[in-house]
Amino acid sequence: MRINVSLIVAIIVAVGGVAFIFTAFQISAERDKLNKELEAKTIRASDHFFNEFVTKNDSILIDEITDSAVQTIGFDGVAVYLNNDSIIQVSEPTGEYLAHSKDYIRQAIASDSSMGKYLKADGKSFYQYIRVLGKKDSPHSAVVFYSDSGYINNILNDIWLRSFLRWFLQAMLISAMTLLIIRRSILKPINKVVEWVKAARFGNVEKIKAKPPTEFLQPLYKEISGIAQEIQEAKAIAQEEARLRTTAEAVWTPERLSEEMKQILEDKTMVVVSNREPYMHVKSGNEIECIVPASGMVTAMEPIVKACGGLWIASGSGDADKEMVDENDKVQVPPYENKYTLRRIWLTKEQEHHYYYGFSNEGLWPLCHIAHTRPVFRKIDWDYYKEVNEMYAKAVIKEIKDKDEPFVLVQDYHFALVPKLIKEARSDARVALFWHIPWPNPESFGICPWKKEILTGLLGADLLGFHTQYHCNNFLETVNHTLESRVIWENFSVKIANHFTLVKPFPISIAFTSRDIENPSNGKDVVNTPADILKKHGINAQYMGIGVDRIDYTKGLLEKFLAIERFIEKNPDYVGKFTFVQIGAPSRSLLKTYSDTISAVEQEANRINFKLKVKGWQPILFLKGHHSHEQIQPYYESANLCMVTSLHDGMNLVAKEYVASKKNNDGVLILSQFAGASQELHGALIINPYDIEESSDAILTALEMPEDLQQQKMKMMRRLIVKHNVYSWGANILRTMASIEN
Ligand code: G6P
Repeated sequence: MRINVSLIVAIIVAVGGVAFIFTAFQISAERDKLNKELEAKTIRASDHFFNEFVTKNDSILIDEITDSAVQTIGFDGVAVYLNNDSIIQVSEPTGEYLAHSKDYIRQAIASDSSMGKYLKADGKSFYQYIRVLGKKDSPHSAVVFYSDSGYINNILNDIWLRSFLRWFLQAMLISAMTLLIIRRSILKPINKVVEWVKAARFGNVEKIKAKPPTEFLQPLYKEISGIAQEIQEAKAIAQEEARLRTTAEAVWTPERLSEEMKQILEDKTMVVVSNREPYMHVKSGNEIECIVPASGMVTAMEPIVKACGGLWIASGSGDADKEMVDENDKVQVPPYENKYTLRRIWLTKEQEHHYYYGFSNEGLWPLCHIAHTRPVFRKIDWDYYKEVNEMYAKAVIKEIKDKDEPFVLVQDYHFALVPKLIKEARSDARVALFWHIPWPNPESFGICPWKKEILTGLLGADLLGFHTQYHCNNFLETVNHTLESRVIWENFSVKIANHFTLVKPFPISIAFTSRDIENPSNGKDVVNTPADILKKHGINAQYMGIGVDRIDYTKGLLEKFLAIERFIEKNPDYVGKFTFVQIGAPSRSLLKTYSDTISAVEQEANRINFKLKVKGWQPILFLKGHHSHEQIQPYYESANLCMVTSLHDGMNLVAKEYVASKKNNDGVLILSQFAGASQELHGALIINPYDIEESSDAILTALEMPEDLQQQKMKMMRRLIVKHNVYSWGANILRTMASIEN
């Protein structure tokens, strides 16, 4: 109420003030105008008077001047001034005015010029105009004319009154409207915000959800519900921590990893190095969007760095990346959370072309994946690969300049030479490299012209990690075949000169914790049915399969589509009932092998759809484009099955993400035997993706699997992922690094 009254008073005072100033201006202009009109009229009338009553030799025909003649000409009074003792009043009521005019008349005569001015006398206002007569051989005389100017004040008073009334009404109207607007658009929403904040304070997420927000408060609402969510999570974490402390259960959470890291690192620095950055800033119309690129490496590493803090060095590849960094090319991420620093490195077009597209993705990628795409090795690509590796090593060395015994975690095949370069400069640094893709057998690797340099570069690290023991063995055998070194099979290490490198498997995973199992809905809405999701795409079907991949020839997308085609052909009952949704993120599309794969996959989906579709239904829905985790989640949650058909894959985290999303423990995972994940996820239906018959049968088995069997398998896999989540992966690597004697 107090706010209302003071608001009204403020508005009235403000509007009144403005009204006063405007009216004052208006009155002053009006007064000038009316005065000028009266003065001009008086001069004109005095001319008329002179024509009538003053002779050529300036004699005044006093006797002829009558009251009515004066009034006809337009004066209220006329007097003739001959000298101080002789003032002749020629018309009424000049007598009462004359006393006030004498000085002024003398002034006009002394200056020998006619003049006029306004006077107030006896409660009346008038304009007096003195016209001086210069009669030959005698002193000057003058005629004094009086015009009533009282009407000017009346007009001006009238204007004051009308303006005041108008402004007063306006002020009242504006106050009323403003109050109404404030009540409806500000006070009411503010009350709602207060309710949300209260609910947030008590961690009551449900209460916030129950009240649909007003449109313009949407961003604030989002923030508050985020805070509520975080408070609720923080409470759950605290409870979980307490429980863990009492049970000493070996479950890894971000908090536990963070605690562990504090003990391992003490006050040492951790630096992560990768080619792909965890967050890309991209332009979208006039806005800048922050997106998470499609990368298994990012999916795994980001939660670790987020939990532990530190510095992540990576190539800036978003078209708005440069706009978001500070003068040291750094930006705090994740957006609004600011948990760690991302330092962006800028590559030239040539460097990107030869180091990234060329040596990394046309050379090493196909070399390490047995997917029947020939690797291409060009000298120029190799030269750039060396140059960029040196550039990154320098950037790391600069960042760790003043830090003792820093931990450096290098990621993937883009930086095989970095470990050695760093160790040469900083022998006290603990350097690990995790190879996120498979390592082939020695014969396959042997075709690389620069195999020795790559192996030597890698063996500069203290620790080399692969997803599986099989890849470790392949690596150790490759070293044995290629380098003068000692492979110590007892503890899986390599000795070159005096340096040891430990080679160990660390099966990578995702950020899935026991909290996610115990509190599966986590405040989120209920799961959509497959039919709901498909309906949004204009498809009627009750069962849905899902696949999420970068469009890469190693992912077996064509084989997957052939298996779906075969499944429908063999099981026509599923026409109109089962649709497979394939989400495909275009990747490395400047390379011909990749752009060819994109068109081949699109064409194959079109061919199969054209062949099998019926009204309102098609077997494959291919959604090409970048999709955020939040966009993919509903598909995972509702799909009856997920198909991972990689022809060769280090781990494949999509398989784990699908399992983690199945909060109701339903659904079936169909998983390629050539993905590292198949060695852990024993509840999956394991297939050979090249065997189309087997894969198509697996689809039928999955769709017809009894509910309780689905639940049993899914629960088993979910428990396994919780136990071996990415936090335990991070803790294992860091503990191993810390245990190595430098
Ligand atoms: C694989 C690699 C990652 C890479 C990702 C996406 O998962 O192991 O290092 O980031 O593919 O590829 P891109 O070339 O787009 O980074």
